Amino acid sequence: MKRVFSAMRPTGRLHLGHYFGALDNWIKLQKDYECFYGIADWHALTTNFEAPDDIRENTRQLLLDWLSTGVNTEKSVLFVQSKNLAHAELYLLLGMITPVAWLERTPTYKEMQAELSHKDLANYGFLGYPVLMTSDIIIYNAAYVPVGIDQVPHVELSREIVRRFHTLYNKEVFVEPQALLTKQAKLPGLDGRKMSKSYDNSVMLSDIPEVVEKKLKTMVTDTNRKKRSDPGDPECCPVYPYHDIFSTEDEKAEVTAGCKNAGIGCLDCKKILINHVLAFLAPIREKRTRLEREITDADEYLADSQKKAGEEAEKTVAAVREAIKI
Ligand code: TRP
Repeated sequence: MKRVFSAMRPTGRLHLGHYFGALDNWIKLQKDYECFYGIADWHALTTNFEAPDDIRENTRQLLLDWLSTGVNTEKSVLFVQSKNLAHAELYLLLGMITPVAWLERTPTYKEMQAELSHKDLANYGFLGYPVLMTSDIIIYNAAYVPVGIDQVPHVELSREIVRRFHTLYNKEVFVEPQALLTKQAKLPGLDGRKMSKSYDNSVMLSDIPEVVEKKLKTMVTDTNRKKRSDPGDPECCPVYPYHDIFSTEDEKAEVTAGCKNAGIGCLDCKKILINHVLAFLAPIREKRTRLEREITDADEYLADSQKKAGEEAEKTVAAVREAIKI
């Protein structure tokens, strides 16, 4: 079975955007591939080194979100990056052969510095994080890497690093990974912008029903539809993409027509959706509540999986040492 690798940074609880942008795909991939999914806590440190206090608890919260949606250790190998030191060794060795220019031209390097201008990101670790990501992926010989479009250049870079290694040491140690571009299920945030933790416009997987209902009821709609009697346009309404995911064809036809001829109000349209979202989240939250009591420590829960990851990683690093003859 071919291998899949992906990882997430532990930055807090996951929202619906994460689910429909990544997790649902991860869950499906578990059926056909041997999947390795990592909690990239070292990656979280590249931008949060000044305030690392939350990373540990965020690691646990991320694990809870995974487990309650169906990413689990029966089907996949789940692990915490910092508990697998082989990644650090490979990262160091790959650092020797990676030209600085390759890292400086990575689009996220300048973009994130501009976006996070309040943070000091002129650090070696931040510049080198695509090398760390490369080491995450190729240490498991992953053939496929499901990622969003922003991460594709990093997977490309990992291919270049692999090729350079193979040429330099004349030995094919790694599998060249390929990005599996997740089809963008664009779920806008409650304010119509991209759903993002930093915009405070998200519906979290762990939100209680009252909160979900309140958030969706106050979500922006087609801004041109000011009065109930104004006809609206679903194409311009951030609520419509939610219907696309959650509602039946009949319901979609009903809200589309009702919106365009002002036959229904925005709240009528949202009520249909709210019921679907609540029904979708109920089993996830139920499972999460139970697991939250059971799992006090992510490392303890992941011990077996972590061991498997460690063994696989160690095999690769042994082959790497052999190739470099060190
Ligand atoms: N860099 C990714 C992010 O910032 C997380 C990540 C770390 C990752 N290692 C990875 C993703 C390996 C895919 C493969 O979200």
